[in-house]
Amino acid sequence: MDLIESPSAMTSWARDQARAGKIIALVPTMGAFHEGHLCLMRHAAGLADRVVVSLFVNPLQFGPREDLARYPRNLPRDLELAAGAKVDLVFAPAVDAMYPQGSLTRVQVAELTDTLCGARRPGHFDGVTTVVAKLFNIVGPQVAVFGRKDLQQLAVIRRLTLDLNWAVEIIGHPIVREADGLAMSSRNIYLTPAGRCSALALHRVINFARQRAATGEADAAALTAEVRARLLMDPAVRVDYVSIVHQHRLVATPILTRDSVLALAVFIGTTRLIDNGLLLTEE
Ligand code: PAJ
Repeated sequence: MDLIESPSAMTSWARDQARAGKIIALVPTMGAFHEGHLCLMRHAAGLADRVVVSLFVNPLQFGPREDLARYPRNLPRDLELAAGAKVDLVFAPAVDAMYPQGSLTRVQVAELTDTLCGARRPGHFDGVTTVVAKLFNIVGPQVAVFGRKDLQQLAVIRRLTLDLNWAVEIIGHPIVREADGLAMSSRNIYLTPAGRCSALALHRVINFARQRAATGEADAAALTAEVRARLLMDPAVRVDYVSIVHQHRLVATPILTRDSVLALAVFIGTTRLIDNGLLLTEE
């Protein structure tokens, strides 16, 4: 497996692959790999001739009071894990290489970024779409794989790709969970043992809501209230949002449809966790 740090060297490598007729799949990440990331990489390997993983903790998408400084970083460990997951190349640029003269340009998707996490994390999605736009330009992939755990990110990137006419197929990979149901996340390591127990409520309420939907509850407001009440039964859980929205358009679906997804964000201590699940459709 290769490691490239310079954007121009990355582009040369990608052009060589394209000349040789190879299809490139890109898996953008911020490192601190867990099984969720590795599943995306292995999935990408089945879709393309070459898998490129970008590993870049993007300062542009962190708010001033967020965890940029303490975000987990371990390049040697990540390289070893990627090599075992059929990755051909890791692109790990330095911040100065990605934003050489600072950064004056932002790529912004309107409306879809106004709700859910976008409403709570001002500027976050502008940071995500700006870096993903740069990565698409640098790597020029035909396929890019993102996790459905970040429901809003996936919807925003699908729209970005459509609106800017990129010929990149966006693949949404199902949420990868621990055996007990907790969605894998680089931020789970921040949880204390008690906090980790509390975090299981997310998956539990998603299952509860799916069950209520399957047995006839079709009113999103009623279901949202029930889910919120269940989450608040644990005083360690602070609800950021509980929302039932269309999985792609992210607008409320007052009566459940097959595209209705329950989207959750909670704080446990200072750690913010998100999760989601379709209510009437198998994942
Ligand atoms: P990061 O949080 O490192 O996640 C990289 C990719 O892994 C994202 O597409 C995310 O949705 C996916 N992922 C994380 N946990 C997952 C899980 N449990 N199951 C399935 N997929 C999972 O998301 C980012 O980085 C950044 O915002 C990025 C897109 C790289 C832009 O900087």
